[in-house]
Amino acid sequence: MAKDKITVVGAGNVGATTAHIAATRRLGQIVLLDIVEGLAEGKALDMAEASPIYGSDQNVVGTTDWARTAGSDVVIVTSGMPRKAGMSRDDLLATNAKIVKAVSEQIARHCPNAFVIVVCNPLDAMVYATAKTTGFPKQRVTGMAGALDSARFCYFLASELDVCVEDVHCVLMGGHGDDMVPLPRFTSVSGIPIAQLLDASKIDELIERTRKGGIEVVHLLGFSAYYAPAAGAVQMAEAILRDKKQVFSCCAYCETEYRADGQFVGVPAVLGKEGVERIIELDLNRSEQVQFDESLAHVKELVAKVDGIL
Ligand code: LAC
Repeated sequence: MAKDKITVVGAGNVGATTAHIAATRRLGQIVLLDIVEGLAEGKALDMAEASPIYGSDQNVVGTTDWARTAGSDVVIVTSGMPRKAGMSRDDLLATNAKIVKAVSEQIARHCPNAFVIVVCNPLDAMVYATAKTTGFPKQRVTGMAGALDSARFCYFLASELDVCVEDVHCVLMGGHGDDMVPLPRFTSVSGIPIAQLLDASKIDELIERTRKGGIEVVHLLGFSAYYAPAAGAVQMAEAILRDKKQVFSCCAYCETEYRADGQFVGVPAVLGKEGVERIIELDLNRSEQVQFDESLAHVKELVAKVDGIL
């Protein structure tokens, strides 16, 4: 069977880490692309040289040439400016919209059948920009934010409760910003609702920490997180390539779902060989729907700004 081909656009921290995790998980043949001469080539060579140690004979190649990406099954877009201290994700909009547009034109040209997973910020607006520029069917364009934000929430809960991270499951919706909507009512430890295990004020504290999870890392490092974002992107690529029908939150196109009215926004969805195969509509209560609507309104504002740039 032919190997799946995965292109990672951008060989910065998120891109290189994504390629590295994908290689160690034997996801397929990986092409790491960057416009900076030598950057992707150097990092890819370094990764390839580690393959005998990992015992995986995966091909990781680095390039500046889009022709090398031809026919990719999945393209993960990490290019764009990352956040630095003092910046919000929204501050990146104008710069990253132009980058994402240029990248999307290349994807449409060289990888017309690919599934695209967008990782750059402001996430939901960049997913919209990718879908609009590529013209790809909506189920083939998605964004990685829910996987990261959910992982953060699950990690904080597991640490607080001193339980195995694998036993904690949560649902988190809305845009990838401070107004994201973690849903404690749909969060459990092996089926036990967290309200049975933690008091409300502790849950609120962990929700707030999750909402500010990105900036907590920026404050420590001086720049954006990359291990967890990269792991989230690989998790999504794997769900699609292996047709796992895995359910997790991702930025997906909602027509009527959640009254989102034709927007890309974070919702629980099933990812498999058709990409975003289905959106799962939860019966939100009033407060949850209000929070989602607020987050959606923010996403719509950003999308309107992106439309002015594209
Ligand atoms: C974060 C960035 C990647 O949440 O948005 O860390």
